[in-house]
Amino acid sequence: MQQLVILTGAGISAESGLSTFRDTDGLWQQYDVMELASIQGYRRNRERVLEFYNARRSNLLTVRPNHAHEVLAELERDYQVTIITQNVDDLHERAGSTHVLHLHGELTKATSSMNPNDPKCVVDRPLDQAIAIGDKAADGSQLRPFIVFFGENVPNMSLAAQIVQQADIFVVIGTSLVVYPAATLLRHVPKGTPCFLIDPGTFDDTMVRGFEHIQTTAVAGMDLLKEKLRQLRS
Ligand code: OAD
Repeated sequence: MQQLVILTGAGISAESGLSTFRDTDGLWQQYDVMELASIQGYRRNRERVLEFYNARRSNLLTVRPNHAHEVLAELERDYQVTIITQNVDDLHERAGSTHVLHLHGELTKATSSMNPNDPKCVVDRPLDQAIAIGDKAADGSQLRPFIVFFGENVPNMSLAAQIVQQADIFVVIGTSLVVYPAATLLRHVPKGTPCFLIDPGTFDDTMVRGFEHIQTTAVAGMDLLKEKLRQLRS
């Protein structure tokens, strides 16, 4: 089966009711990204950061995967699909996708403040159970959300780059491609690979040269993508 590699961002979950970050109604228009999503912000005020992520964790219980997540799961019938996502929600998994690599962490998990990437410290944390000051990780440090903060390494980047290098078809859905190092993954796509971008926004041509831009939302765009994939096979 052909390797279909997908890179997703907040836009794929927008029609499920989760805010993106940089659109006019996005989270980083309402909140200060450096206070809430950086390691420096966490060190300055842990309570504030825990409160922000606890709210996002409980909100995740109120939303469901949309048609775009569902189509990606269905494509596993015809392709070897690997999803690399910048999203910290679990909507790809809930839709049934079985190969999902999270670059920026997962809201369904918690970890240690001292050794956030130590697998022994990463635990499942029910979304309705807030992470409180005083909750401890396995190494005795304060429990924190399993989120890659700005200012921290992205441990899954080299694995993600290897996956992109294997792509027979590459699709980007719902990301502004402004966050590094995630955006550098596009450089790893083998030459000549058919590439598609589904996003209602506009992009600098140098960033997505050679991509066919399906300029609409994820839900509408996925059916158009299915048609394009059918054409590639015939
Ligand atoms: P952004 O908010 O930067 O970009 C969202 C993208 O989704 C934009 O390109 C929009 O045009 C597009 N979009 C909006 N509605 C859409 C829809 N219905 N269907 C499809 N696309 C739509 O979000 P990301 O690129 O995901 O990191 O942001 C990357 C990272 O920055 C996030 O993972 C997060 C954030 O800070 C961390 O917190 C570490």
